[in-house]
Amino acid sequence: MKSLHFSMSPFLFVVLFSLSWAISAHADENFLDCLSLHSNDSSSISKVIYTQNNSSYSSVLDSTIRNFRFNTPTTPKPFVIVTPLHVSHIQATIYCSRKHGFQIRIRSGGHDFEGLSYVSEVPFVIVDMVNLRSVDIDIENKVAWVQSGAILGELYYNIVEQSNGTLAFPAGLCPTVGIGGYLSGGGYGLLFRKYGLATDNVIDAQLVDVKGRVLDRKAMGEDLFWAIRGGGGGSFGIAVAWKVQLVSVPATMTLFTITKTLEQNATKLIHHWQSVAPKLPDEFYSGVTVTRVNSSQDGKMTILASFHASFLGGIDELIPLMQERFPELGLVREDCTEMSWIESILYMGQLPNETLNILLDRTLQSPLLSPSFKSKSDYVRKPIPEIAFQGIWSKLFEEEAHSASISFIAYGGKMDEISDSATPFPHRAGNLYKMVYSVGWQEEDNIRSQRYISWSRRLYSYMGSFVSKSPRQSYINYRDLDIGTNSKGKTSFTQGSVWGRKYFMNNFDRLVHVKTMVDPQNFFRHEQSIPPHFSRLKKNHH
Ligand SMILES: Cc1cc2nc3c(=O)[nH]c(=O)nc-3n(C[C@H](O)[C@H](O)[C@H](O)COP(=O)(O)OP(=O)(O)OC[C@H]3O[C@@H](n4cnc5c(N)ncnc54)[C@H](O)[C@@H]3O)c2cc1C
Ligand SMILES: *[C@@H]1O[C@H](CO)[C@@H](O)[C@H](O)[C@H]1NC(C)=O
Ligand SMILES: *[C@@H]1O[C@H](CO)[C@@H](O)[C@H](O)[C@H]1NC(C)=O
Ligand SMILES: *[C@@H]1O[C@H](CO)[C@@H](O)[C@H](O)[C@H]1NC(C)=O
Ligand SMILES: *[C@@H]1O[C@H](CO)[C@@H](O)[C@H](O)[C@H]1NC(C)=O
Ligand SMILES: *[C@@H]1O[C@H](CO)[C@@H](O)[C@H](O)[C@H]1NC(C)=O
Ligand SMILES: *[C@@H]1O[C@H](CO)[C@@H](O)[C@H](O)[C@H]1NC(C)=O
Ligand SMILES: *[C@@H]1O[C@H](CO)[C@@H](O)[C@H](O)[C@H]1NC(C)=O
Repeated sequence: MKSLHFSMSPFLFVVLFSLSWAISAHADENFLDCLSLHSNDSSSISKVIYTQNNSSYSSVLDSTIRNFRFNTPTTPKPFVIVTPLHVSHIQATIYCSRKHGFQIRIRSGGHDFEGLSYVSEVPFVIVDMVNLRSVDIDIENKVAWVQSGAILGELYYNIVEQSNGTLAFPAGLCPTVGIGGYLSGGGYGLLFRKYGLATDNVIDAQLVDVKGRVLDRKAMGEDLFWAIRGGGGGSFGIAVAWKVQLVSVPATMTLFTITKTLEQNATKLIHHWQSVAPKLPDEFYSGVTVTRVNSSQDGKMTILASFHASFLGGIDELIPLMQERFPELGLVREDCTEMSWIESILYMGQLPNETLNILLDRTLQSPLLSPSFKSKSDYVRKPIPEIAFQGIWSKLFEEEAHSASISFIAYGGKMDEISDSATPFPHRAGNLYKMVYSVGWQEEDNIRSQRYISWSRRLYSYMGSFVSKSPRQSYINYRDLDIGTNSKGKTSFTQGSVWGRKYFMNNFDRLVHVKTMVDPQNFFRHEQSIPPHFSRLKKNHH
């Protein structure tokens, strides 16, 4: 308990640290020297340590900050950023951070909606995985080892090049999302109704635990291997690499987008979509995104619903299917484009499609993303009554919603067949679709960001009657600190169980059990990390 108290008290730490620094006779008592001493390769670790004194500190820090809400002068900054070149740098950083009382924030792609991979309220160090991003593909066995620092686009690029377009990985739409965070939280994308979540296709992993041990699936055991595939990043250790199952895709997919305004019966169509889309064949991904726009006819505000889908097959197969299942949408050949799987990623992301090299661009800014944003998610288990949509539209007509969107993403297919407890991700059979509410604003509006965040809370409150209840389910990779926060990165079991049930439902208990086994002192922690069970911990001591 003594060291627990120590590691959770930043003020005590500061006192002890400066004291020991001042009287230090041993180089090891300085954090930076500790890193050099405890890495097996001291000459190279100094090349990957950035303190505020290094001229590239800010550019390294800012490199993957996606949400400018967390890039203000008052945002807490890390004492050091380490960009490990190999596992021994990770081991040294864990050892020295524990010794000197720093918290570690792990960053792969930096897309965390709440910036938890690079912001903390207590003295902290960032381990940025950017240099660990190799992708090794075994085409014959349809598997790949991919390191956490790779982005989805790098994995995709290599799969397509090496398989000549015959293989794919069922992951997300945005190429700059990092493998480390994405796989840690589940990960859905265009192929998830056919092949499940990305994490359902993970077959091995390499993790460095709090003791600095490098564990593969066999060494970590099935409980921990279960926990890291959807239990959320930053709780169990530093994931270095993942072995994933690749899947076959046909040479031709078909995508379409059809837009309808309120005047074109958008409300009726969305209402109907709710019962049609979740039952479409597994070959479909189907979603609707609504925004508010000025009508091209009279300039008055209206709602624009964009119905989009991807289909693993050609146009000739798709059209009759849609005519049978959803004739009201009025899909015609002209709405459809045939393309390869990799082109479908660029199409959905509204990215240029001339060259695949764009997939390797880690600085690519999505045209769909505002500089600052706040997002929330919900799951819908029975269709929302048609009348209720009026309330949603009126929220979108409020001033703050100029850059807001609400998305509906159909579940069903393979997602219904995987057990709720197969991985920590519990939102399987019984869910018709997921909703995502996002509100965006310009960087310069940051001072007024609270207005936009309040808008998202009002919408969320309105939606409460129509979505899943007890618990109200949420997607961990759409992190939302509003649904239960532990102050200053401290996690307690009781607080954790509020958001824990929403993200993980009954799987939360097993996650707490695993956490208690592998990191009982709660070294790997953030505002929504899995807390250890303190009472069980005490019992173990007797
Ligand atoms: C533009 C955009 C598009 C998105 N599209 C999709 C989508 O299509 N499908 C989908 O499912 N999600 C999507 N997401 C959500 C995304 O999956 C999550 O934000 C995910 O956690 C991001 O991973 P990251 O590595 O980029 O983020 P990071 O911010 O680096 O990490 C996220 C969390 O995981 C932890 N973590 C990171 N790396 C490691 C590691 N190596 N070991 C242990 N813990 C680690 C971090 O500490 C943090 O808590 C999108 C997000 C954005 C911003
Ligand atoms: C940052 O500065 C320290 C000394 O202050 C130096 O040891 C280290 O090599 C520098 N890091 C880089 C990446 O240049
Ligand atoms: C940064 O440089 C100043 C002045 O040289 C020094 O006092 C301080 O300890 C350095 N900080 C770090 C984190 O290296
Ligand atoms: C030491 O570093 C090398 C890379 O320089 C790495 O391959 C090796 O695994 C490391 N050894 C240990 C014991 O960490
Ligand atoms: C690669 O794919 C293209 C298009 O599908 C095909 O025409 C070509 O023959 C394939 N090349 C090889 C080497 O398989
Ligand atoms: C909207 O639906 C009504 C019937 O519900 C129909 O008469 C009308 O033509 C539709 N409008 C459009 C633009 O499709
Ligand atoms: C929509 O109309 C309002 C006023 O009617 C105007 O202020 C706004 O700029 C318009 N938006 C767009 C995107 O044209
Ligand atoms: C590629 O982009 C062009 C221009 O946006 C578009 O017309 C074309 O349909 C796209 N091709 C595919 C396969 O998406």
